[in-house]
Amino acid sequence: MKKFVIKGPIRGAKGEVNISGAKNSCLPLMAASLLFKHKVVLRNVPIVEDVFTMIKLLKSLGSKVNIDKSKKILEIVNTRKHKLIVPYKLVSTMRAGVLTMGPLLGKYQNRNIYVAKSGGCSLGVRDINYHLAGFEKLGAKNFLTRGYVKIISRNGLKGSTYKFPKVTVTGTANLIMASIFLKGEQLLKNISIEPEVIDLINFLNNSGAKIEFLRNRTIRIKGVKELISANHKIIGDRIEAFSYLCVGAITKGNVKVLGVDPNFLKSELKVLKKMGCKILIGKNFISLSITKKLLPVKIKTGPYPQYATDNMPILLALLTNVLGKSEINETIFSNRFMAAPELSRMGAKILINNNIAHVQGQKFLNAAECISSDLRTTFSLILGAMSANGTSKIHRIYHGLRGYENLTGKMKQIGIKIKIEN
Ligand code: EPZ
Repeated sequence: MKKFVIKGPIRGAKGEVNISGAKNSCLPLMAASLLFKHKVVLRNVPIVEDVFTMIKLLKSLGSKVNIDKSKKILEIVNTRKHKLIVPYKLVSTMRAGVLTMGPLLGKYQNRNIYVAKSGGCSLGVRDINYHLAGFEKLGAKNFLTRGYVKIISRNGLKGSTYKFPKVTVTGTANLIMASIFLKGEQLLKNISIEPEVIDLINFLNNSGAKIEFLRNRTIRIKGVKELISANHKIIGDRIEAFSYLCVGAITKGNVKVLGVDPNFLKSELKVLKKMGCKILIGKNFISLSITKKLLPVKIKTGPYPQYATDNMPILLALLTNVLGKSEINETIFSNRFMAAPELSRMGAKILINNNIAHVQGQKFLNAAECISSDLRTTFSLILGAMSANGTSKIHRIYHGLRGYENLTGKMKQIGIKIKIEN
């Protein structure tokens, strides 16, 4: 299996990185195309593994999908009736396959729909009980049969009120998509307001849906007959943007990320500024430079607009190099510190207790071989290797390539050489 080889320590990353479209916006938008009878065009598509897995999934249902990799444009046409079985082999490699439940249920209200239940993942239990409870409120029953969730709404879907017990990003997307064509209107409370969810709402409203915000986390969806065709530019990826800003921070360099709305990273930028990073922002760029010694910090993750859990493993790696005691309280996932034991193999001092990481920053780390376990851990280990003395090797990099487009090419743009070896 391929591995990254990084010779550290690396100092002074410098230059600009063009940020790709957000993977976690693109995937629900692709799933939402199942609701359309007409062509859906998505622009600023991130060319990453998960998008190709979702293309395979849509094609297995009967969608016609064309991708122009150089122009980063996806065209999806759903004229024919879909198959209503979402196969395990695709959902098992990409949990976001669960996002097909909502649109299939919303479009085929009196048919049996089978979606493979995604397994756990390295982040911890990834339940969908809140998704299924929401479908029940709409009048759809569900049963687990041989690892597949069978969903059926014999009498169609009727509007109701559903309050999510806990904020769930894909749960919110699923319930919105299931509610687009229902009879009457649906109230959803305690929804996720992640930028990627707002991107989905804007996309659907621009295509004829009727979704309106009544309060900060409450929306009303009025059922419509059908959606018109869509042509949508996907928002920039805030997690990728933060990842490259931290490359600037850990190498004490000067990095500018282009193509992302700084408002998506308010909590994260506040933390970097508190640590002493110099941050400049514009309409769709953020630049970071280091002019003084960085300070330790204490953070807590939470649903947007709080500090994003996906940006936590990235900051963890940076903090292992900031002298003093830092603290990270992870409140979203039960097992999100997968980078910690691997960074500790490089000499990082991280103690995990009750989902809180206590970090004692070091002057530098020492190179080691390590194994990545998920998408954001991969980037976290790359940062660790950049700050370590010697040559590090990071195995199972397919996790990282799932969500970071052209990673080695973008690193090269800021003067950083990362080799890929078999
Ligand atoms: C989305 O996952 C993202 N994935 C994740 O990004 C991200 O980490 C996560 O939101 C949190 O922001 C996509 O958008 C494709 P949740 P999702 O439902 O929707 C519990 C990445 O790196 N929960 O918001 O699956 C759940 O176990 C990925 O790109 C239930 O208990 O996350 C978790 O503890 C990793 N029951 C918490 O809620 C449910 O029915 C938040 O999960 C649903 C969720």
